[in-house]
Amino acid sequence: MTDAHDPILSRLQEDRRFAPPEAFRKAARVGSREEYERLYRESLESPETFWARETAELSFRTRWSKTLDWKAPHARWFEGATLNVSESCLDRHLEGDARTKAALIWEAEPEDPQRGAPTRTMTYFELHREVVRFAGALATLGVKAGDRVIIYMGMVPEVAVAMLACARLGAVHSVVFGGFAAEALRDRANDCGAKVIVTQDGAYRRGQVVKMKATVDAAVAHCPTVERVVVYRRLGEAILPIELDPKRDISWERAIAERDPALGREATAVGAEHPLFILYTSGSTGKPKGVLHTSAGYLAGAHVSTKYVFDLRPGDVFWCTADVGWVTGHSYVVYGPLSNGATVLLYEGAPNAPDAGRLWRVAERHGVTVFYTAPTAIRAFMRWGEDWPKKSDLSALRLLGSVGEPINPEAWVWYHTHVGGGRCPVVDTWWQTETGSIMLTTLPGAVESKPGATGLPFFGVEPAIVKTGGAECGPNEGGFLVVKRPWPSMLRTVWGDDERFRRQYFGEIEGVYFTGDGARRDEDGYFWVVGRIDDVLNVAGHRVGTAEIESAVVAHPAVAEAAAVGRPDDLKGQALVVFVTLKLGYAADEAMREAVKEQVARDIGKFARPDDVRFTDALPKTRSGKIMRRLLKEVAAGKAPTGDTSTLEDLTVLAKLRDEE
Ligand code: WT7
Repeated sequence: MTDAHDPILSRLQEDRRFAPPEAFRKAARVGSREEYERLYRESLESPETFWARETAELSFRTRWSKTLDWKAPHARWFEGATLNVSESCLDRHLEGDARTKAALIWEAEPEDPQRGAPTRTMTYFELHREVVRFAGALATLGVKAGDRVIIYMGMVPEVAVAMLACARLGAVHSVVFGGFAAEALRDRANDCGAKVIVTQDGAYRRGQVVKMKATVDAAVAHCPTVERVVVYRRLGEAILPIELDPKRDISWERAIAERDPALGREATAVGAEHPLFILYTSGSTGKPKGVLHTSAGYLAGAHVSTKYVFDLRPGDVFWCTADVGWVTGHSYVVYGPLSNGATVLLYEGAPNAPDAGRLWRVAERHGVTVFYTAPTAIRAFMRWGEDWPKKSDLSALRLLGSVGEPINPEAWVWYHTHVGGGRCPVVDTWWQTETGSIMLTTLPGAVESKPGATGLPFFGVEPAIVKTGGAECGPNEGGFLVVKRPWPSMLRTVWGDDERFRRQYFGEIEGVYFTGDGARRDEDGYFWVVGRIDDVLNVAGHRVGTAEIESAVVAHPAVAEAAAVGRPDDLKGQALVVFVTLKLGYAADEAMREAVKEQVARDIGKFARPDDVRFTDALPKTRSGKIMRRLLKEVAAGKAPTGDTSTLEDLTVLAKLRDEE
């Protein structure tokens, strides 16, 4: 952790302030900093009152008898409650006006210049109907409460249907991002012991057809627990013929047609702490962690944060651009907005397909009011230029959000000006896969924003900045971001590895949740998050573990040793650089460089493809044999090697100099 200090100390000088616009403030759920402070204090001092009131509209079969049972590091929230999460997201909306309201508006990637793109709208009634049918299909295939189901799909309405259908049965879903490769998918399915995989034939991505079922076939050959594969035909036989193994595979339509109609209609009531989903995320070892979220607490966190942070109003069209394969898609595409009865926009494709104006045309076509995306996307919009958002009518937008990495003030101001027309508040939201829902932000009608700062704690969250050992830092002093008390949507454990959960999150400082991020708190109480202090990178808003990359690289037969580090990148936040030593007899040439990049793309996924591969005759190490990552980071951040890049770099010379310091 000694590596931590440099980045934390770097201070961003940013004095611009953006107060909530008066009209926004007047209509907001929380309309002043005082009101925010009052609710915040209540959430910490009387959590019983706060959470009972704020979750009153959700559907519980039985209410809880105890708000929190905390035996560090294990929290049990809303003990005694029984519920089914899908009833809060669906059934409860069938009684009132929301029955015929759009739950999902979907737009396909292929777009016709004249006619726009194919769209589908599902009302709450229709979404409920589809979820009931698909839950029945899964139950007929043998899925029971507690069973694990992998969902490996793209952005189609059926991905939400599949998630909610699992929830309806009390089965545990694990959505694997569609960009992951077969090996990554296989490891996740095996780690959670999945019984069923739900997938689709293929998907469109930037006009290309991505074969998803073929990836599942490659993975499932090595997944002994997987009994059945359900395939949704997004593209159809004419575009992408697929093979169905008659014993193992079944199409989505057939699974529904052949289901036992008695199953699925009645949702399975589960206990508050029943697992809802596992989501794999990278850590500082090569093995991804299965972050476990449970039912009542997760739902409460996703529900209440969506309502307040996005200040939901009845006519909203809510668009979070994250893929459902990441936690942002779980909490702010599915569970948060649907439990609030909001209309969710789902867009299938890439932001620049077929051109850089696509997102703005989607926003205009569907009257998007709240737009939530990542800084890496905002920096891409900046690069593409302000003329693109100008071509579309974005006047329906009233609120913008950012998540995934620190947003640089330039990107913040550009977003505010060119997307928000200068009238929409921008909320920067800090949270993690592990936290389940937003932890730090500025409530848009209540608290002024400072570009680059994420903001103040959300309700129920008690963060602090501490030094090694746990002593609290003073204002503006850099340290580790921790959370001092449990909150409802916190992870409960790492699937199958409670020891890792304890060590990773509660092992650094006794009884306190360790986020792995460096940050400071300014004199007004605003948090400025700098980024990870462990060996985890944030590449284009996606968490990438350096150890995971290294183990993929050394799997290449020519590679002897590898070290992956981050390098600052204007667009992606961090770019991935891998230093490689080759075994004797292999040439460090362009073909080898490509082969190493390909190896990572094939094992982990294209999104993790290294930006740079640098060959060295030996990795710089300390006398005790530890790779000097800090030195490698400096080398990576410096100028690229000049001249003939196929020659080996001699980094041991640098290492010797450093070792003698
Ligand atoms: C890590 C969590 C949860 C959303 C998607 C990422 C970084 C996230 C911010 C922000 C600065 C941020 C942190 C965090 N991060 N949001 N607003 N400002 N940094 O989820 O993959 O679990 O990554 O993303 O470093 O620890 P994730």
